[in-house]
Amino acid sequence: MEVVKRNIPISLPHTGEEEWLAAKEPIMSGWLTAGPKVREFEEIFAKRHGVKHAMAVTSATTALHLALVALGIKEGDEVIVPAFTWISTANVVLYCNAKVVFVDVDRTTFNIDVADLKKKITSKTKAIIPVHLFGLCADIDAVKAVAGNIPLIEDGACAAGAGYKGKPAGSLGTLGCFSFHPRKSVTTGEGGMITTNDDKLAELISNLRNHGASVSEEQRHHGPKPYILPEFNMLGYNYRMTDLQAAVGIVQLKKLDIFIDEREQWAKFYNEQLKDIVWIKIPEVKENYKHGWQSYVVYIDEKKSPLKRNEIMEKLQQMGISTRPGTHAPHMLGFYAEKYDIKADDFPGAKDCNNYSMSIPLFNKMTKEDYEYVVYALKSIK
Ligand SMILES: Cc1ncc(COP(=O)(O)O)c(C=O)c1O
Repeated sequence: MEVVKRNIPISLPHTGEEEWLAAKEPIMSGWLTAGPKVREFEEIFAKRHGVKHAMAVTSATTALHLALVALGIKEGDEVIVPAFTWISTANVVLYCNAKVVFVDVDRTTFNIDVADLKKKITSKTKAIIPVHLFGLCADIDAVKAVAGNIPLIEDGACAAGAGYKGKPAGSLGTLGCFSFHPRKSVTTGEGGMITTNDDKLAELISNLRNHGASVSEEQRHHGPKPYILPEFNMLGYNYRMTDLQAAVGIVQLKKLDIFIDEREQWAKFYNEQLKDIVWIKIPEVKENYKHGWQSYVVYIDEKKSPLKRNEIMEKLQQMGISTRPGTHAPHMLGFYAEKYDIKADDFPGAKDCNNYSMSIPLFNKMTKEDYEYVVYALKSIK
């Protein structure tokens, strides 16, 4: 049978008419930023993620930055970050003039290796950022068992809607941070969210994202004296989300569980179809974990594969299928390698994940024929 070539991107956001119409509302009302749509988006997000507070910001990167600022991270402090993650998980630590302390990751889950974490905690460790990579939660109970009272900031950039032992991502640590970049399951173009159950941190973060103002824009405009400017008692930032983004986010968030269910169904299809390819290790999801399936990432066993990972990616590209390495190992990137004089082999798990992980297309606009074609393409690599 002749198979017709298809072109399948690594990801496409699932946006359309509904999001378009939603964005029209703030445009027509004139309340374009930090207004009622942002508040509604925050309320829905907090409810879905089982937390008291959710504060919308401009990205997961700015969410992580504010989380660290709110915890008072400063020069002389150490913050622990997995060595296989998007670079900004580490960069935010430097924004606070603190030191990034990398920890190796597990090759099966791609998440933080708790045995290595234990060795890296010192009296200077002031926060730990476990990452829920690709939508799979880190083993937070194991992290907590070694972290004691050190605050945990969940990097849930990829993990909206994911769960761990019956609890949603974002409700597991002191603070949780999420991304709404178009490669995530739900998107606002750019955007982020911070979650917490701590009232004081929530208030602080609300003020920090708005230049450090003591009163939010919305409160001031609806208050008795809208002409009075707020107090500014701290160094703040402009990390406010717009109402256009939030309006889109509200529509997207209402579809989050449908999106995840669909993704899960296709992840299972991949698992079933790819499990007999000896050089592919399919993602493993232990009991008690609810994977968010932001990405479907396999691990290539080059000892058994007919081609190297990059050659496989090239071959798939020629067949019209986009792939990517899962993410990168920041300690192997020029900036961190040089700054801290780190060798790739200092974190062997992260190095392997960097070199052998491969993300294949999984997104809600994909069709059955697309999935079948990806499987056909992978099986044709000999
Ligand atoms: C694990 C992780 N952390 C942080 C980020 C940064 O997210 P944003 O692009 O919203 O700043 C990403 C983005 O891909 C990510 O995957």
